Amino acid sequence: MEELLPLFPEQASSLAASVDALYFFVIGVSVFFSVLIAGSLIYFFVRYRRREASQVGSPVHGSVVLEIAWTVIPLAITMVMFGWGAKVFFSLSRPPAGATEFYVVAKQWMWKFQHPEGRREINELHVPLGVPIKLTMTSEDVIHSFFVPAFRVKADVLPGRYSTVWFAATRPGRYHLFCAEYCGAEHSRMGGWVTVMEPSEYERWLAGESPRRTLVATGEEIFSQRACNTCHRPDTEVRGPSLIGLVGKQVRLTGGRKLIADETYIRESILNPGAKVVAGYEPIMPTFQGQLSEEELVQLLSYIKSLGKSAGGESAR
Ligand code: CUA
Repeated sequence: MEELLPLFPEQASSLAASVDALYFFVIGVSVFFSVLIAGSLIYFFVRYRRREASQVGSPVHGSVVLEIAWTVIPLAITMVMFGWGAKVFFSLSRPPAGATEFYVVAKQWMWKFQHPEGRREINELHVPLGVPIKLTMTSEDVIHSFFVPAFRVKADVLPGRYSTVWFAATRPGRYHLFCAEYCGAEHSRMGGWVTVMEPSEYERWLAGESPRRTLVATGEEIFSQRACNTCHRPDTEVRGPSLIGLVGKQVRLTGGRKLIADETYIRESILNPGAKVVAGYEPIMPTFQGQLSEEELVQLLSYIKSLGKSAGGESAR
């Protein structure tokens, strides 16, 4: 099937079938009405064509019933597409709670992956079968786009902020990974493979390399190396706000503005700390612009995220 019709890659994730069902519904409706309308046009052209020069058409006075029918029926069909599309969109864009977090850094022209256990890969990503996996992605340079057709996931990967995709692979195998946004001379070669393995096999694969520190542990080390912990301490909030339970929480800024502390906000606060200062604090934090790679930022981020989980979400203001 795949060789004959490369338009339809195999379905290898939990949401692939629902994406395809919606796609075929939209295509089916479009083909049906295109054929119906074009067919009627051609039929009427032929059936009611002028046969003699003296023939004149009789006037048409319209029909309210017809007007209502061709307004209401398309409206109903498009509303079905809208509702169905929204449902599929939300299930694609919201990773299930407890999804395993991997991190992706794109650059011209490669994909760099970090497993939560600390293992790193380039242009290859190994994942366990059946486990929901959330990828948090950013770019070192220009806009790229992470695309795995077999999983039906695609999302732009942007410099300066984080975007996410999630999937749960449903069959073992190797699946093509593409960059789907023109990003320079080697764009067409910026690709790789996602290898889906049985969980036990994946564990063996992970263990095959000399033991590494987890992402969280590496992040914790950067946190103390860079002396973040001298101000962001769990026991006192005198110099900087506590970071415990911060991610996903609402933060009030100097000036009264409020926002949800997401990953992009935390990244910005590390690189440009003066941009959005938490209410009640002085803008005394030094910038780390140019001092941390995207990989290190991701490690810090995964450490800061882990703070909420272990310490039970104490107030971080
Ligand atoms: Cu990266 Cu195209």
